[in-house]
Formats: sequence, structure tokens, C-alpha cells
Amino acid sequence: MRIDRLTLADWRNYETAEASFLPGANVLAGRNGQGKTNLVEAIGFLTTLGSHRVAGDAALVRTGADAAVIRAVVVAEEREVLAEVLINRTGANRAQLNRSAVRPREITRNVSSVLFAPEDLAIVRGEPSARRRFVDELLVQRTPRLAGVVADYEKALRQRNGLLRHARQAVDPASLEAWDERLVATGSELLDARTELVTVLEPLVAEQYAVVAGADQVVGLAPSRSIDQESEEGSTAERFAAALARVRRRELERGITLVGPHRDDVLLTINGLPARSHASHGESWSLALALRLGAVELLRHALPTGDPIVILDDVFAELDARRRVRLAERVARYEQVLITAAVEEDVPAALAGRVTRIRAGRVLRADERADEDAVAPAEAEEVPS
Ligand SMILES: Nc1ncnc2c1ncn2[C@@H]1O[C@H](COP(=O)(O)OP(=O)(O)OP(=O)(O)O)[C@@H](O)[C@H]1O
Ligand SMILES: [Mg+2]
Repeated sequence: MRIDRLTLADWRNYETAEASFLPGANVLAGRNGQGKTNLVEAIGFLTTLGSHRVAGDAALVRTGADAAVIRAVVVAEEREVLAEVLINRTGANRAQLNRSAVRPREITRNVSSVLFAPEDLAIVRGEPSARRRFVDELLVQRTPRLAGVVADYEKALRQRNGLLRHARQAVDPASLEAWDERLVATGSELLDARTELVTVLEPLVAEQYAVVAGADQVVGLAPSRSIDQESEEGSTAERFAAALARVRRRELERGITLVGPHRDDVLLTINGLPARSHASHGESWSLALALRLGAVELLRHALPTGDPIVILDDVFAELDARRRVRLAERVARYEQVLITAAVEEDVPAALAGRVTRIRAGRVLRADERADEDAVAPAEAEEVPS
């Protein structure tokens, strides 16, 4: 799929802005801190209802404004859709598809994108939560119904934790059992879905790693699940229930749920060594990129909307010349690629495309130059000191 037009109001540092994009490569250029990432972050928001940079929506609304609006015209299989989200600083967000009110989740089914940004290094080097988030976001993008399973699991977990925390030793066994059942039912479905996803993703990521790094290293992805114990048989639900029984006493002491999808990890390896502790900076970066490119490959075959919109935020500055060219040639095949760059010359020739310049929260017209300072020297002199 592709995005034809994006309109922003009170989003990040944009008061109002409109940008249009072509099929193929589109470059967003501008100096540091002008709004390049903010712009692509808005497209990412339509896909995940979240930002790749911050938790919560408050920072997304322009300082001083109460609500932000993102409006996009996207085209999939020649069908045009107008998707709109209103992000309230306080209170629930609202959404429209083709001018009819829908639940915000509906938007994500219609806007498919994969964004790669420097923050993604945390998927390789960071806490397990970053890897869980990567996997769960991809799960939901591929199978939107699973958003409900994730939400139900989180709700069951919160309520079970509440019970454990408040009741401690005096917990009513019957009510705990009821929450165990809910936790196991939703959690097992999530666990099975994650395991299946990691299994199909592994060869795709390995292939992309070879493309990006140009190295014949063996990349591995494996679920690391808190409910698992060696030499144990049975269904996921049975194993989950057995794990809960094992930790019951400790859970009552500590007042929290100690096993389940919320405690799991995905083990990433390069040549059999855990990437988190062993990979070099360059290897970690290549692996993070390979995870996102693997996600693109997975989604383009799984979704009726075809290729997701591929977004590369500040990627080229981090790569050496050889890897830049390899990556550029690889992603140039996708229906639409948006690339942000502070230094336009960093973008390889294979991704030459329409250049849109961004300056101080403005999308410049084609005849405006980005390198003119926001404050011209003549004006600067007039500023009273
Ligand atoms: N909610 C907000 N309201 C107003 N301004 C904001 C808001 N959130 C971020 N900004 C401003 O947006 C600017 C950052 O924009 P952005 O991250 O898009 O920069 P960039 O062009 O990608 O730069 P770089 O090349 O350094 O990555 C900062 O100046 C920041 O203060
Ligand atoms: Mg940026």
C-alpha cells in the first residue's frame, strides 16, 4: 500500500501541515530537530495507535493545544481510504474512516507500515519488554483480532495482580482460581501466537540480516517463556496452569504474577551467541534492521493490502557506504518507501525520489530551500539584545 497525502494539525511541532507522497522512494530532508521524525511518527501512529518514541499520547499533541489530528489518504490495491485520528491530550481518542466514525483500532487495519528508527536498537540491546512489544505489535498487525487477546490478557493480569497485592496471604482461593482461568485462557492464546510468529519470522530475519550485513552469520530467534520447564509435556494451557501452581506460594508472598507472557523474552542470537550481551554495535544495528525488514516480508505476504509502507528514519547515517547501498537496493523494491535524512547525500542513489523539505514544523513548498536558516542573518540583527 501507499500513502498519497498526509495532513497534520497540532501534531508535535506542526501547527498545520500537508505533505504528499509518490509511489516508490520519498525523501524527507531537513536539519536536526525540524520535524522529520515527527512526520513519519504520525504515519506510524495510524498503524499502531502509538508512538515508537514515547509511551502515552501527551507528548504527541503540540504544546499548548488540546488535541492533534492526523489525516491520511492511503491507497491499497487501487482502493482509496481516508483515515483520520483525533488524539486528545486528555480523554479517549476518536477516529473516522471515509468520514464515518469508527473505533480507533479500525484505522490500524487500513494503514499498514513498518518504521525503522534508531530507537530500534533497543529491540536487540534493551530489556525484554522491547522485544515483547516488537513481537506483539507485529502479531496485531498481521492478525488484528489479536489486539483483543492482548488487551484481555493485560486486563486479567492487572486484576489478578490487584487481588494478589491487596489480599496477600488472606487471598480467597476461589477468586484467585477464577483469575487463573482467565489468565491461562488469554495468555495461552497469546503464547501460541507469539511462538508461531517467531517461528515464521526467524528465516525471514536471517535472510534480511545476510542482505544488510553481507555476512554469512547465523541469526536465531527463539521464544524464551517463563512458563516452560524442561521435560514437560502438555498443551500451552496445561503448562501455564502447572507453572502457576509451582509459583503460587511465591506469588502470594510477593503479591504479583510471576509467570506468563508478560515475563517472557525472545532470545536473539548471532552465531549462537546472545546478541544482547555479545553482538557488536554494528551487528546489533544490522540485526535490529533485519528484524524490521523481516517484518516487512512477513506482512507483505500476510496482508491483503500488500507491501506495508516502509519508513526508514535516520538509518543511513548509521551505516557504512557498502551497507547503505545494499539496504537501499533491497528496499527499493517495495511499493513505497519514506526516508528521513538530515544529510541528503547520505541517501543512496537507488532511493532517489521526490524530496520534501521540512523546516521548523513546516513542509516546504518545492520552490523553498531547506538550508535557509529559520532566522535570516538580516532579521537576526534586528532582534533586540
Ligand atoms: N508536542 C510537541 N509540541 C511542540 N514541539 C514538539 C513537540 N514534540 C516535539 N517537538 C519538537 O519537535 C522537534 C523535534 O522534531 P523531530 O524529532 O521530528 O526532528 P528531526 O527533524 O527528526 O531531527 P533529527 O534530524 O535530529 O532526527 C523538537 O524541536 C521538539 O522540541
Ligand atoms: Mg529524527
